[in-house]
Amino acid sequence: MKFDALAGPNPVDRLTVVGQPHDRFEAKLKTTGTATYAYEHHGIAPNICYGYILGAGISKGRIKAIDTRQAEAAPGVLGVVTYRNAGPLGTGKFYVQHMLASLDVDHYHQPVAVVVAETFEQARAAASLVRIDYVRSAGRFDLGAQLTSAPTAPQMAFGGPTETHVGNFERAYSEAEFKVDETYTVPDQAHAMMEPHATIASWDGDNLTCWTSIQQMNWGTRDLGLILGIPRENVRLVSTFIGGGFGGKGTVQSDLVLAAVAAKVVRRPVKVALQRPIMFNNTIHRPKTIQRIRLGATRDGRLTAVGHESLSGNLAGGRTEPTTLSTRMLYAGENRMTRVRLATLDLAEGNAMRAPGEAPGLMALEIAMDEMAEKLRMDPVTFRILNDTKVDPENPDRPFSSRPFVECLRTGAERFGWSARNAQPSQVREGHWFVGLGMASAIRGAPIARAGARVRLDRNGLLTVETDMTDIGTGSYTIVQQTAAEMMGVPIDRVVAKLGDSSFPETPGSGGQQGAASVTAGVYAACMKLRQVVAQRLGFIASETEFVAGEVRFGNRNVSLARAAADSDIVVEDSMEFGELSRQFAIQTFGAHFAEVAVNAFTGEIRVRRMLAVCAAGRILNPKTARSQVIGGMTMGVGAALMEEMAVDTRQGFFVNHDLAGYEVPVHADVPHLDAVFIDEVDPAISPVKAKGVGELGLTGVAPALANAVYNATGVRVRQYPVTLDKFLDQLPVVS
Ligand code: MOS
Repeated sequence: MKFDALAGPNPVDRLTVVGQPHDRFEAKLKTTGTATYAYEHHGIAPNICYGYILGAGISKGRIKAIDTRQAEAAPGVLGVVTYRNAGPLGTGKFYVQHMLASLDVDHYHQPVAVVVAETFEQARAAASLVRIDYVRSAGRFDLGAQLTSAPTAPQMAFGGPTETHVGNFERAYSEAEFKVDETYTVPDQAHAMMEPHATIASWDGDNLTCWTSIQQMNWGTRDLGLILGIPRENVRLVSTFIGGGFGGKGTVQSDLVLAAVAAKVVRRPVKVALQRPIMFNNTIHRPKTIQRIRLGATRDGRLTAVGHESLSGNLAGGRTEPTTLSTRMLYAGENRMTRVRLATLDLAEGNAMRAPGEAPGLMALEIAMDEMAEKLRMDPVTFRILNDTKVDPENPDRPFSSRPFVECLRTGAERFGWSARNAQPSQVREGHWFVGLGMASAIRGAPIARAGARVRLDRNGLLTVETDMTDIGTGSYTIVQQTAAEMMGVPIDRVVAKLGDSSFPETPGSGGQQGAASVTAGVYAACMKLRQVVAQRLGFIASETEFVAGEVRFGNRNVSLARAAADSDIVVEDSMEFGELSRQFAIQTFGAHFAEVAVNAFTGEIRVRRMLAVCAAGRILNPKTARSQVIGGMTMGVGAALMEEMAVDTRQGFFVNHDLAGYEVPVHADVPHLDAVFIDEVDPAISPVKAKGVGELGLTGVAPALANAVYNATGVRVRQYPVTLDKFLDQLPVVS
């Protein structure tokens, strides 16, 4: 089925199941510990053994010699895999990292060996007996030191130009009456998802099955095939449940590759998990950015010049953090310039994490907007409303499909009690605490991609939907059930959703907040086909047949849906393909974030007191799972604003705090009640289901809202994330 004209009325609009706050079907499994994660498929083979990955002990250089003899002789050891016996290993399409491919060491904790043994403990013990001599060479680890030497970025992550120019930015900026010119930094950050990367790999002749934890099945089979040099058709991936990914499990990491390689070498199924301390330097992360924002405005608050330049670093061939994405679309302004640049660094690969581009980009832009509003003596909400745009500012012929941005701002300001804010910083005291309010805008793309589904109707009227979409803790199972139930006119408990298996019809999976929009469109397509086949079997005219309350109605006849499959199951498969609408329209999601913080006047301790997100993302498929996603995003925003940073040892070249003791993320005591509300809208330009993703929208804009709140509380502007007390304590107003 092709989607190439604005969606009209269709069965999803009934909203008897879609749009309702259904509980997740797997909630009980997860809360009782019976949901099976990658490492827990104990029953798949009797003779599973364990692989333990050894990461490089240097950051840059070459392996001079590996001595595996002692490890091989250790109790229980079945084999030691190194570049010598791994066979040729290539790279996938989305990541550039190499593993066991040669003697070269590109970054710290790059895999250099996998020890395989009967038990995990034996593998781990033997790994300590592998002796490796290295020759170090000089590396580049400090992004700041590359500021002047970085070449123009060869490639923007996720496509798009590395530079954009509209009007004459430099002239407009130099002539502007009011100016902001500041540089902001967002540090290297880790996904820190709960479930570590883990895989069980099992070969059957040339065919490989992996029980793993991966967000995007289609990228996974493609990249694993490329790395191993086998056809992707020979690879089957299964990820039934995923304990968070946040971009870190987009495609193939070392657990998956090395479990597959090790299983081939020892001729048994092999299980590999990445221990938490190796994850930070071994896998991907959000790379640090240094971002310069220049804004020019007239006295009455209209932006005339919007400039955003950003530098990130990566391994050779790696991608650039696309921080300028949101700056290109969020505000009006006739003269604009954005530019991203890339430096080569010898740290682990930088790649997709938690709203790549938009999240770190808005962390800079939205502080700059706060700074400009203050210079203009204008309320930050009013300033943003004044600079709203109805068309894509870089392509004035392209309208937004829907842009209730001002509504988000107004609704948020009203619900949060924004008018009570004192615009003068550090004026509000409650005992030992300074209290401040801050806000920021949110914008996040709404990509969508071809998605398929297979639907089976059986003689009991039970529907089974199969798609390779994954559920990374987001509620995918439930919205798939809801969509099929609505389309076929049955209650949600008549639908079984089977996800996370690459042998099912292809979707883009969970990434870039495109999963919900894409998969529900695929389920729509398959169900439209099923409705036709059912009508046909019953001798009805499909276009005049209704599917309501478990019944199929045509004229004055009505029969149960199950009847259509009385003789044999009906199985149909279809996919939704997307045409030109995303080129005709700018399709985005919008939001506004508000935060209240208290900052201890003596110690600088920051407590988040309350937060509100107002989100617009088309039709909300399930307000309960959508809210869960948004408050999850807001929690990540608390981390990004106040805690998260991988500290780089710029001499040795690695992330020092590579575990959850040293890498701080918000815990329950750090997060107050979070309020998330949705604007009531549909977007007929995205798909027949009219819904967009919300996961990453819930995060973008959160961190700068908190940073602005800390400024409002203290009067000290911190432009280097995370906003920690060491950066402002000595500048706090003196109080008694
Ligand atoms: Mo997301 S960082 O696109 O999984």
